Amino acid sequence: MSIVNADLAHLSPKDPDWWRQSVVYQIYPRSFADANGDGLGDLRGIISRVPYLQSLGIDAVWLSPFYPSPLADGGYDVADYRDVDPRIGTLEEFDELVAALHLAGIRLVVDIVPNHSSDQHPWFQQALAAGRGSAERDRYIFREGLGADGELPPSDWVAAFGGPRWTRVDDGQWYLGSFTKEQADFNWNNPDVREDFLTTLRFWADRGVDGFRVDVAHFLVKDLPDELPSWEEIWKLDLNSGTHPLQDRDEVHEVYRQWRQVLNEYDPPRSAVAETFVTPDRRAKYASPDGLGQAFNFDLLMADFDATQFRQVISTNLDLVASSGSSSTWVLSNHDVTRHPTRYGLPPLDGRDVKQGVEWIQAGAPADGIDLDLGSRRARAATMLMLALPGSAYLYQGEELGLHEVGDIPAEHRQDPAFFRGGKNDGLGRDGSRVPLPWTTTGASFGFGEAIAHIPQPTWFSGVSVEAEEADPASSLALYRDALRLRRELHTEEKLEWLDDLSGDTVLAFARPGGWVNVTNFGAEPVALPDAEVLLTSSPLQDGLLSGAATAWLRA
Ligand code: GLC
Repeated sequence: MSIVNADLAHLSPKDPDWWRQSVVYQIYPRSFADANGDGLGDLRGIISRVPYLQSLGIDAVWLSPFYPSPLADGGYDVADYRDVDPRIGTLEEFDELVAALHLAGIRLVVDIVPNHSSDQHPWFQQALAAGRGSAERDRYIFREGLGADGELPPSDWVAAFGGPRWTRVDDGQWYLGSFTKEQADFNWNNPDVREDFLTTLRFWADRGVDGFRVDVAHFLVKDLPDELPSWEEIWKLDLNSGTHPLQDRDEVHEVYRQWRQVLNEYDPPRSAVAETFVTPDRRAKYASPDGLGQAFNFDLLMADFDATQFRQVISTNLDLVASSGSSSTWVLSNHDVTRHPTRYGLPPLDGRDVKQGVEWIQAGAPADGIDLDLGSRRARAATMLMLALPGSAYLYQGEELGLHEVGDIPAEHRQDPAFFRGGKNDGLGRDGSRVPLPWTTTGASFGFGEAIAHIPQPTWFSGVSVEAEEADPASSLALYRDALRLRRELHTEEKLEWLDDLSGDTVLAFARPGGWVNVTNFGAEPVALPDAEVLLTSSPLQDGLLSGAATAWLRA
């Protein structure tokens, strides 16, 4: 397969609004394709698969961190924000990747991780060397400990992936690491930190990057009182006040206003999307045009496969973006959660966190309590519904193959800090969605590379490899390709009209401008479709009826 010179008709290179309704495909670079045969995915691997990305029909790639990193958290522990991890490539290869994607008509969004750096970042090492009270230490959040000799942490706070949030250094001070001790939180009240991230944004924007995904965007600015509240007390404080000591403080928007000015220096302006876990009304601030412009909405991902829940999530989010001037983001899978075919094969969440899904899978085989086939059918239906919504859709590598979560990764091959530190809600951790992709039916790593992959792949990956699915017109890959091609043809204004006479407790139907109709059957029994041209279905029709757990696209 080679790159077809891009048909740019569907996207104008200077369009400032290109992100509003784009399909963005997330690449977790160390698990996508390994060109140099060392078991770790690399930039050359991605370059070699640009024709595949083009044939899929996506509009943009979001590249998870590819920076130098000790990999304490899958690359979200960055040791140098303006370079490429030598194990996976070089800056020259990065430039080649940008060029290859652009030639194929695909834009590139890179991940930026501003809340914390790796403890191996030169600034953190300088902070350790310079000692207490120094300008170097002020770039991070250092505190004296409690107890007679400061031997106790400044507070009893727990890190996101388990273990204490404070770590003691040799001279006795403690620093804050919200996720792991290898990820030290920056002090965003320090001007060096603010300035350096502007330099980083310009560095990548100058290299042709089209946009940025901002990691834990609501965490940056903190305000820690002299006397720290206990962990129990801190979660009783109002998270929506804009004055919580640890997250979603109103001042964070000053940072993003400054970022927006830099992003707007480019033509077209560089896009940005915030990863936030805040309430929907607080989310709108991150998505405002003088802020980042767009914010992730994980509500669909948190919902059960349920018509009422889906309708409520969709309505709320469309109302919200109408008020902020942004466009909605939709996502069903990413590198942090159990893949959606697996989630949908489980009993309803019933308040359980989505991340706990992996606990239900044992030894890679369908365990009690999980129906993999039902999960797959629901996933196809939910994906088609998502792709029919106004706004942008984020896909995660491998979901086009219908991959299930891999449950049986031996402990010695796991990498996620959440697994080792017993972080709450993380169960087996996130490695099961980060297993390197299968490209071929055979080979040491099913075409991922020449060597065994850095996280072992299960034998069933052969049957869900790109090669296997390309030979099967009923495969998940074929469905994604058809759906993405049709979406490009049918997509118009960002509007949706519910079709109430077709909808009910188990059916959701809506129309987009131009006669594009989506009907999703969330129930088990087949339902009749209105009299219209059937363009695509997620499962074959049954005697002309839409089967249970299926979606149809129609042209009215
Ligand atoms: C975000 C990332 C996640 C990472 C965390 C800390 O939530 O998506 O993978 O572990 O931030 O950087």
